[in-house]
Amino acid sequence: MTIPQLVSSFVPCDRTRPEIRLALLGLGRVGSAVAALVHEPFAGRPVPMRIITALVRTERRGPSHASTPSTTDPSAIFDGDPDVIVEALGGLEPARTLVLEAIRRGIPVVTANKSLLAHHGGELLDAAARAGVPLRYEASVIAGVPFLGMFARRPYASRIHSLCGLVNGTTNYIVSELDVRGGDYLDVLAEAQRRGLAEPDPTKDVDGIDAAEKLCVLLRQFAARAVRPEQIATTGISRLHAADLVQARELGGTIKPVVAAQWSEASVTAFAGPAFLPSNHALARLQGAANGLSLRDVEGHRLCFTGPGAGPRATAVTVLDDVVESLYETPAPALTVRPASSAAPETGWFVRLGGAAATIGARERDALLEREGVGVTRSTDRRTCRGLDAQWFVTRPIEQSRLDLALRALPHAHTGPILSVRTLDADV
Ligand SMILES: NC(=O)c1ccc[n+]([C@@H]2O[C@H](COP(=O)([O-])OP(=O)(O)OC[C@H]3O[C@@H](n4cnc5c(N)ncnc54)[C@H](OP(=O)(O)O)[C@@H]3O)[C@@H](O)[C@H]2O)c1
Repeated sequence: MTIPQLVSSFVPCDRTRPEIRLALLGLGRVGSAVAALVHEPFAGRPVPMRIITALVRTERRGPSHASTPSTTDPSAIFDGDPDVIVEALGGLEPARTLVLEAIRRGIPVVTANKSLLAHHGGELLDAAARAGVPLRYEASVIAGVPFLGMFARRPYASRIHSLCGLVNGTTNYIVSELDVRGGDYLDVLAEAQRRGLAEPDPTKDVDGIDAAEKLCVLLRQFAARAVRPEQIATTGISRLHAADLVQARELGGTIKPVVAAQWSEASVTAFAGPAFLPSNHALARLQGAANGLSLRDVEGHRLCFTGPGAGPRATAVTVLDDVVESLYETPAPALTVRPASSAAPETGWFVRLGGAAATIGARERDALLEREGVGVTRSTDRRTCRGLDAQWFVTRPIEQSRLDLALRALPHAHTGPILSVRTLDADV
């Protein structure tokens, strides 16, 4: 592992600076929360802030936007020489082009955009390092818990070799609701949308894409590896049934939508998707939209962070702290990041056999699975739970392709809903 030389040192706040002038890209949920926070009085703020211009797609009128001058012309965001650019557009373009242009002009950039970092992080961070311009992205992963910058400035503390995180509040909320209240997945999703906890188009969250992008940001930081989101083995939560959560408890654990990775000099294994965690796992008790990250260092110690993952207000707070840091603190030394491929890890599995496939007896099932190399460690009897007739069991670690083959060989396997989710040990 490369330990970059620590050259960063805190530069005391320049209280003679009369104000910090921001150009804000995007006035959506995060952008509007940033604007609102800038306009609020706050005694602890080192220097007053002012938004000199905000980039919008269409001009908006109304009290909430009256105090924020706006433009629909992307090139106009550099007029008036902003001190910092805050990118809150989301997506890849025009965010990438505007961030690169800001760096070219020597203007520090703050972003909360994990897609941008997952897909173009190497290009943007290399450009920023070459130009000596801060590019901060603390709010891109677990926005309400600032840990990325802290590790960037403390490279010895970053000697991490594995991580496990609940990094998507929407899916943690949905899975928690399915667990605690039961009900149908689509009803719980609709309720999350009504409460503003899921997007009108929830695909990126429920299919695990958002989590995989955040995992790429985490791998860059902690493993110094550039892994592309499409290289991460990713599964969604939409096939989970409320009965799976009850039976997971029966089998000594719980199901959570996680990202997990471990790495060595030679390889990275990682996945994003629902996983069965033993009930003594550090993240097993996190409910609702809460986020968490468990890091295991090379000495075997565990570091845990939990807190609000997103929400415009929590994100805006972290964004504005990044603004202050980008002006008053020397950038952390750039990590030497190597491109890497990522393979799915070999894990155990929590399996549900439904429909006619559930009629198989435990002895016959175990014998048939054993013949294919799949060892069963715990199982329930066949039962009807929350309206689902099925049986559930947990296996020893085995490759997914071998598990799939073994499950397909069971009698009536094609007739019922079969689900398999990875299991993680308590020490991951
Ligand atoms: N929401 C959260 O809690 C949260 C938390 C952490 C990180 N983030 C990240 O923060 C970023 C912003 O998220 P958000 O929730 O604020 O999204 P949002 O509500 O969709 O806001 C994005 C805004 O950018 C505007 N925009 C997009 N493309 C534009 C263009 N080409 N020109 C001008 N304006 C454009 C959109 O305008 P239109 O409305 O006209 O499309 C919209 O107002 C994303 O990268 C997201 O991943 C969000």
